[in-house]
Amino acid sequence: MSKLVGIIAAMNIELDMLKTEATNKSSEIISGIEFTKGEINGHKVVMAVSGEGKVNAAMCAEAMILKFSPDIIINTGVGGSLNKNLNIGNIAIAKSVVQHDYDITFLGWPLGMTPFGKRTDDKPWGEDATVEINCDEEIVSAFQKATEILGIHTHTGVIASGDQFIADSSKKDFIVGNFGAVCCEMEGGAIGQVARINRVPFGVVRAISDNADENAEVYEFNAVDAAKNSISVTKEFLNIIDK
Ligand code: ADE
Repeated sequence: MSKLVGIIAAMNIELDMLKTEATNKSSEIISGIEFTKGEINGHKVVMAVSGEGKVNAAMCAEAMILKFSPDIIINTGVGGSLNKNLNIGNIAIAKSVVQHDYDITFLGWPLGMTPFGKRTDDKPWGEDATVEINCDEEIVSAFQKATEILGIHTHTGVIASGDQFIADSSKKDFIVGNFGAVCCEMEGGAIGQVARINRVPFGVVRAISDNADENAEVYEFNAVDAAKNSISVTKEFLNIIDK
């Protein structure tokens, strides 16, 4: 059966090439976000640029799910490396996502715990709450196959999201130390939360644009080329996931 794949990117540079290539296009604006339906190499897609950050990403994912009912949702774009195995242009694939800045630890909540489900005295964050939100295994393996076909070096692990551009080694150490994350960005965790609540399988793929440290200004030079890699992987992914 042919799937409708929802594709969310934070910025135009992360989606424009896909939008240009799509055929049979139609667009609709919801809550200020343009959703473009169409086909890429015969695969049905609905695509949107959410804007940066977790609130924009969550709004976009929720609107996409309610209005278009995609079978799966993927988040594609660039990210900062938190791992020596991931260099500029390489691909990070999320096995799970976390929100590194979700911090109610002062009240005894585990760091990153996002509330979900029935609340009890023992579990004020809710019975179904979790720090790590797992990505869909079929999506993870389709991303891995896509990178293999393209010959792009990849590393799969936790991707950490927050409303912060990370450009500081101590923040980087904090995220790695607390979550074992391999890549940081600003949207995947929010999209994962919305997808999980709505029971839509999801995944995140990010091409590395910087090392999230004091030299992270290299982002400005690398973002466009890195975004091309994440777009190539996304296109190949469509051939694999939608056979
Ligand atoms: N996206 C790309 N690089 C990033 C970084 N260093 N921090 C957060 N998001 C990013």
